[in-house]
Amino acid sequence: MRLKDKVALITGGARGIGLGFAEAYVKEGARVVIADIDIARAAKAAEAIGPAATAMKLDVTDLSAIDAVVKQIDETHGGIDILVNNAAIFDMAPVNEITEASYDKVFSINLKGPLFMMKAVSNVMIERGRGGKIINMASQAGRRGEALVLLYCASKAAIISATQSAALALVKYGINVNAIAPGVVDGEHWDIVDAHFAKWEGLKPGEKKAAVAKSVPIGRFATPDDIKGLAVFLASADSDYILAQTYNVDGGNWMS
Ligand SMILES: NC(=O)c1ccc[n+]([C@@H]2O[C@H](COP(=O)([O-])OP(=O)(O)OC[C@H]3O[C@@H](n4cnc5c(N)ncnc54)[C@H](O)[C@@H]3O)[C@@H](O)[C@H]2O)c1
Repeated sequence: MRLKDKVALITGGARGIGLGFAEAYVKEGARVVIADIDIARAAKAAEAIGPAATAMKLDVTDLSAIDAVVKQIDETHGGIDILVNNAAIFDMAPVNEITEASYDKVFSINLKGPLFMMKAVSNVMIERGRGGKIINMASQAGRRGEALVLLYCASKAAIISATQSAALALVKYGINVNAIAPGVVDGEHWDIVDAHFAKWEGLKPGEKKAAVAKSVPIGRFATPDDIKGLAVFLASADSDYILAQTYNVDGGNWMS
C-alpha cells in the first residue's frame, strides 16, 4: 500500500479521471475526499468506493468555499497529504469568435480554481509540517495550440507553468508539485468535446472521436485506468525527488 493513511483531496472526482484516481488512492490505503460541484454524483461515487471515501460540495471558483472545505478536511482528517487539482471544463471557439463569458468560465475553473486550491492546501501542509504532494491536471492541449480550442489550450498551458512556479516555491516545505498531461481519455468530457467538433466542423456525432482514436499512436483512447498509475506514483514517496514536471500519458500523441 503506497498511500497508507494519507489524506487526499481530489477536485472534480465525481466522475471520469478524478473518480479513477479516487478509487486507486483508496486501494493504496488513502482516505479520499471527492470535492465536486455535482454533490449528488460525488456522494454516489464516494458511497460506491466505501467508507474511506467521502464527498463534499465545492465550486473551485468560489474562494471562500475553497477555504471552508480545506479547513474542514484539515480538522476532520488531521491534515491533507495529497491534492489533485482535477476539476476543469472544456469550451471551443476560434480566436475571432471567443466570448468574454467563455473566457471567464474556462479560466476561473481551469486556472483560478487550481491556483487558489494550491494556496489553501499548501498552507495547511506547511502548517502541519509533514510535506505533501500536489498534482495538477494539465493536458496535451497545454503543449500546443489548436485552431478551435484557444481558451482550453491556453488554460492548460498556464497550468503547466503554474506547476513549475509552485513547485519551486514549495520544495523547501517538502511539498512536491507536478502535473499530468493526458492525451484523449474516454468519458463524458470527450462526449462534450465531440459535440463541439460536430458543431464547428459540421461532423456527425461520434465522427471526430473515431478519427481521433485512429490518430493516437497506440491506436485507442485512454481510460482513467491508463492514467491512475502515474497519479499514484506522483502521490507516493517513490516520487520524492521529482518536482515541477508535467508528464504526458497519451499513447504517444505528444513527445516532450
Ligand atoms: N478526458 C480527456 O480526454 C482529458 C484529456 C486531457 C486532460 N484532461 C483533464 O483531466 C481532468 C479530468 O478530466 P475528465 O475527463 O475526468 O473530466 P469530466 O468532465 O468527466 O469531469 C470533470 C469533473 O469536474 C467537475 N467540475 C466541473 N466544474 C467544477 C467546479 N467549478 N468545481 C468543482 N468541480 C467541478 C464536474 O462536475 C466533473 O465531475 C480535467 O482537468 C481535464 O481537463 C482530460
